[in-house]
Amino acid sequence: MTPDELVRAEAAPAPVPLVPEVVLPVVADVMALWERTEERAGTPQPPPFWGSPWAGGQALARSVLDDPRLVAGRRVVDVACGSGLVAVAAALAGAADVRALDLDPLAAAAARWSAALNGVVLDVRVVDVLEGAAGVLPAALAGAEVVLVGDLFYERATAERLLPLLRLLAGRGAAVLVGDPGRAHLPVAALEEVARHEVPVAGGLEDRAVRSTAVLRLRPPVEPPVEPQVPDLGAQPSGSSSSGVRQVPR
Ligand SMILES: C[S@@+](CC[C@H](N)C(=O)[O-])C[C@H]1O[C@@H](n2cnc3c(N)ncnc32)[C@H](O)[C@@H]1O
Repeated sequence: MTPDELVRAEAAPAPVPLVPEVVLPVVADVMALWERTEERAGTPQPPPFWGSPWAGGQALARSVLDDPRLVAGRRVVDVACGSGLVAVAAALAGAADVRALDLDPLAAAAARWSAALNGVVLDVRVVDVLEGAAGVLPAALAGAEVVLVGDLFYERATAERLLPLLRLLAGRGAAVLVGDPGRAHLPVAALEEVARHEVPVAGGLEDRAVRSTAVLRLRPPVEPPVEPQVPDLGAQPSGSSSSGVRQVPR
């Protein structure tokens, strides 16, 4: 079975609780699907994260649709798109171009189906956004003007590599927005909250029915303090420096 066939066999389109204008493929019982997948493979498998929209993605998608200026006319990348909710929301809000990235081929298949269900065009790619060397921007993220990350701070190893990547993107001028319900490894000091939503969650992977979920913006990097330039009183008079360069005391 191909990823597209599997996703269409296991999921059915349903409106997203906090974002009912978007319809996504949803798995009725994610835990049961996870068990079946592990039995078939005979080895531990990652949970089918693509099987339901996550709290972080729902909050971020809600904010994007409530304030389309966040993405309108811009090149947007949805990092770790799952079934593509945030990417679909960005496209509906008028983004110029939307790329949806996930390392799971099943998530990519779900995101492709989501695009069709909602009548939008997404550039869906199977990419591990953390696989490159530190400090090197993965090609799939090049040119991003807005980077959206829904619910990806749940594992330490991922979070520790994700934050430098997001800082690299911000350093190149991208606006970075994160949706997160307070996962264990959210780097709170690096982020500032810009909105909050009470998000209904389902699918059996959460421990409660509603999660209070923040939308956060990556803070600009703290500039090192500028050293005051003290005029060198022992130097030659202004206008006749030995280097020929005029020194202007500030
Ligand atoms: C909790 S789900 C969130 C999905 C979606 N953003 C949402 O909010 O509904 C996390 C997603 O991140 C993907 N993921 C995890 N690590 C990744 C990586 N290094 N590169 C790309 N995708 C990744 C997983 O495959 C999964 O689909």
